[in-house]
Amino acid sequence: MKLFDVYPLFDVNIVQGKGCHVWDDKGQEYLDLYGGHAVISIGHAHPHYVETISKQVAKLGFYSNSVINKLQQEVADRLGVMCGYDDYQLFLINSGAEANENALKLASFYNGRTRVISFAKAFHGRTSLAVEVTNNPKIIAP
Ligand SMILES: Cc1ncc(COP(=O)(O)O)c(C=O)c1O
Repeated sequence: MKLFDVYPLFDVNIVQGKGCHVWDDKGQEYLDLYGGHAVISIGHAHPHYVETISKQVAKLGFYSNSVINKLQQEVADRLGVMCGYDDYQLFLINSGAEANENALKLASFYNGRTRVISFAKAFHGRTSLAVEVTNNPKIIAP
């Protein structure tokens, strides 16, 4: 199976990272100012992250949100205290497009409106609602 042609690719094969540096398959080092659009903003291969993820995956990689998951409540409690919004609710999601979909839905539930203003030349992800607020024809694929 071929990979779907999502973006034009840079001819770089990143194979390793540590902190804010990454290396390609030829050993070339790069300063990583990208942070995986905040997905890995803590830096690559942080020992605490590696240990915690490894231990958890060795026990249980994923299960449905329809059962109790105490780790989710632990994250919500800690995040609430850290950001000073412990009376808010946390909705856990797994992609940028999903985050934007939910932000748009929440805004619409809140204000009852069905139209939004978005920026030209922006990117919000590839789900249905995310592409509705995108004006790039290459992204609004059928
Ligand atoms: C600004 C921005 N919004 C949304 C997305 C979509 O994120 P995802 O691919 O996780 O759905 C991206 C992904 O590159 C992004 O850069």
